[in-house]
Amino acid sequence: MPAPTYWDYLQLDKLLASQGGLDGEPSPDELHFIIVHQTYELWFKLILSQLRLARDHLAAPKLPEERVPFVVHHLGRVNAILRLAVDQFAVMETLPPQDFLDFRDKLVPSSGFQSYQMREFEMLLGLTPERRIKYAGTDPIEHIRSQAHTEAGRKVAAQLMATMAETSLRDALVAWLSRTPIMGSRPGDADDDAVVDRFLADYYARVEQHQREGGDQLVTVLDGADEDKIRARVEAALQGVRSFLLPDDAATRRARAALVFIESYRHLPLLAWPRLLLDTCVELEEQTLLFRHRHARMAERTIGRRVGSGGSSGVDYLDQTTAYRVFPELWNVRTCLLPRDRLPPLLGEERYHFAQE
Ligand code: HEM
Repeated sequence: MPAPTYWDYLQLDKLLASQGGLDGEPSPDELHFIIVHQTYELWFKLILSQLRLARDHLAAPKLPEERVPFVVHHLGRVNAILRLAVDQFAVMETLPPQDFLDFRDKLVPSSGFQSYQMREFEMLLGLTPERRIKYAGTDPIEHIRSQAHTEAGRKVAAQLMATMAETSLRDALVAWLSRTPIMGSRPGDADDDAVVDRFLADYYARVEQHQREGGDQLVTVLDGADEDKIRARVEAALQGVRSFLLPDDAATRRARAALVFIESYRHLPLLAWPRLLLDTCVELEEQTLLFRHRHARMAERTIGRRVGSGGSSGVDYLDQTTAYRVFPELWNVRTCLLPRDRLPPLLGEERYHFAQE
């Protein structure tokens, strides 16, 4: 067996022979277009593998503390790739609009809209079918399935269906949150429901007082100007806080309570990794939104507001996708937080310290 070589190990012969385009040797601009897209698809492949690893750790029925760093590690790698992917659109943008028009027509109707790895990424994050924006009345997943005429297409369609059946990162995160001890109380403890509800009711009462005082302060410093409007805004914000902190469903209440608890008492040693996990998920959502936004601006710069090669309304459609939120509660919780000196007194603190010899 000869010693391995760099080119064999990386299968460079196959990789570098895959830029042929549709009709023979592509022009230099088309080569650029193909390579940029292929690079993204390679990154997507790595993102999917890292997301699955993170999800598998998180979805374990009982997640030992020492496995949380693995989840953070895999998601941190996804975030690093996404940051790069956002910047990478600058390479695409070196293609002037007219140079793209020279070969664009022959691609129609293929489009990034058919990037099945992007759809798997969305599914694994937890974007549900009913929240997907339809384009021209077509569901993006149905669109891919409707184009699956070849062997490769049928494989893609089957792969999408299999991914759709997997547990998403979002579901795993919510399940993990609902198992988190709150004020020292664990699910299954005799009075857990009462502890959780007391914590939430107390927290809400304190937020109400704090935000109303904030309104009073604004009215005073603004010398009474717009008093009615300011008070109405505070009450509207409090209405949002109330429905977030006191939802009817008990399972949702427990997960929300855990979120508020981790964010509020984030200085406790045993909450250090959970809090990092939440921060990493917020960054994941933020980077995904930046990716969508950056892609939309790059597309607008290249094709303006014309119809997309996949047949959508183009940039208008892309802009609508920047409203997707997979972890809305990780954002909403920020509206509810209290300054440290206003927090409910901590119970069961000893449960959140490292074990002493
Ligand atoms: C000249 C460059 C590009 C232009 C003008 C462009 C334009 C568009 C447009 C208009 C759409 C909407 C669907 C349609 O009707 O076609 C779209 C979708 C998409 N494009 Fe691009 N794109 C470009 C490059 C890229 C690159 C480099 C990627 C890399 C991943 C990419 C990924 C995607 C994805 C994932 C979608 C689906 C978005 C969604 O449905 O949420 N595009 N693109």
